[in-house]
Amino acid sequence: MRKLLTHIASLTGIVPEGVLRKQGAEMDTTGSLENAWLLVEDGRITAFGQMGCAMPEAADELDCSGCLVLPAFCDSHTHIVYAGSRDGEFLDKIEGLSYEEIAARGGGILNSSDRLHETPEDELYAQTMERVREMMAKGTGAIEIKSGYGLRTEDELKMLRVIRRVRESVPAEIRATFLGAHAVGRGYTHEEYVRLVCEEMIPRVAAEGLADFVDVFCDEGFFTVEDTDRILQAGRRAGLRPKIHANELAVSGGVQVGVRHEALSVDHLERTTDAEIEALRGTATMPTMLPGSSFFLGLPYGRAKDYIAAGLGVALASDYNPGSSPSGDMRFVMSLGCIQMRLTPIQALNACTLNSAYAMGVADTCGSITCGKWANLLVCRPGFNLTKIPYLHHTPFLRNVLLKGE
Ligand code: NIG
Ligand code: FE
Repeated sequence: MRKLLTHIASLTGIVPEGVLRKQGAEMDTTGSLENAWLLVEDGRITAFGQMGCAMPEAADELDCSGCLVLPAFCDSHTHIVYAGSRDGEFLDKIEGLSYEEIAARGGGILNSSDRLHETPEDELYAQTMERVREMMAKGTGAIEIKSGYGLRTEDELKMLRVIRRVRESVPAEIRATFLGAHAVGRGYTHEEYVRLVCEEMIPRVAAEGLADFVDVFCDEGFFTVEDTDRILQAGRRAGLRPKIHANELAVSGGVQVGVRHEALSVDHLERTTDAEIEALRGTATMPTMLPGSSFFLGLPYGRAKDYIAAGLGVALASDYNPGSSPSGDMRFVMSLGCIQMRLTPIQALNACTLNSAYAMGVADTCGSITCGKWANLLVCRPGFNLTKIPYLHHTPFLRNVLLKGE
């Protein structure tokens, strides 16, 4: 299958082969080509160039006159396998209860866990697919999805099987993360639950090949640095690379323990001191910020500018979940990155595409305009330049979304 995109006003997000992330001053750069064509073969980008210059032929042509074309968004942090919603808690939140207070009343993650337990796998799959379809229509071409509302071995496995089914049925790239340590499941002491995660859940998840990554909610009132250390060790022994929830509710030590275990990403970082920035310098770990949860919970926004000034990269993701970020709209994430975190549109684009692809281990196939990568492309409406995407934050900007060329 060949498809040729022609007359592209600006092809933006071009990255040389082999570049898997952007850090420091590189965050300010992206390649672009004006008046361009781009060839897709078997779902992948195989060539691009300037109109008229060595342009190939293809029976299937897509005229992109006046249009900006970008790589599709990558969303490296979501919790979209859940049953129903938590709109009741939204009303509590409006009344003034904090995330922690809602959780302490048996709401929050445990509420979602109870609902998930009662929901058959097929129904859970159907609800998840609705969210995935919406995300793809809004321009997301790669999605990391976590377990963590099971909190019992069988229910964690049920969630991960749903993720596997999603992975087999959509053109978006899907990766699965085992987040058994999201909260202590009902009926267990803290210590019993940590042992269950290490000694029963991780071996079963690994034996069935259900996850790529292991994650821990290392934060005040959830899991300690010591718990996290044990769980990441068990995960790594089973071949699961760590990703971490850290510093959302407090400065937790989660960044440092993640770095010690060569985490692929450390996520949230609403509460960061200079020590966290220092701990990340010179490592392979991608700091990932989730401005949708800062927006929804009224938390501080991550210090993205300081990370970049220190020579680090930053990724942005949606954190799509029913409790702290009930939206998977990466364009909104990009807008929050610019408006609230003062990223430039180019920095925000790099954070939402290549760096987010890196943070979910798919930067070799997604996240930029590069020959050999999947043709996951956003064709913007005529008149949109890169700045207008975050600036006109809710004006529809997409004309076509192509995933694997379709
Ligand atoms: O990333 N912080 C922990 N986990 C999710 C929220 C989960 C929930 O409230 O359901 C998050 O924000
Ligand atoms: Fe999360």
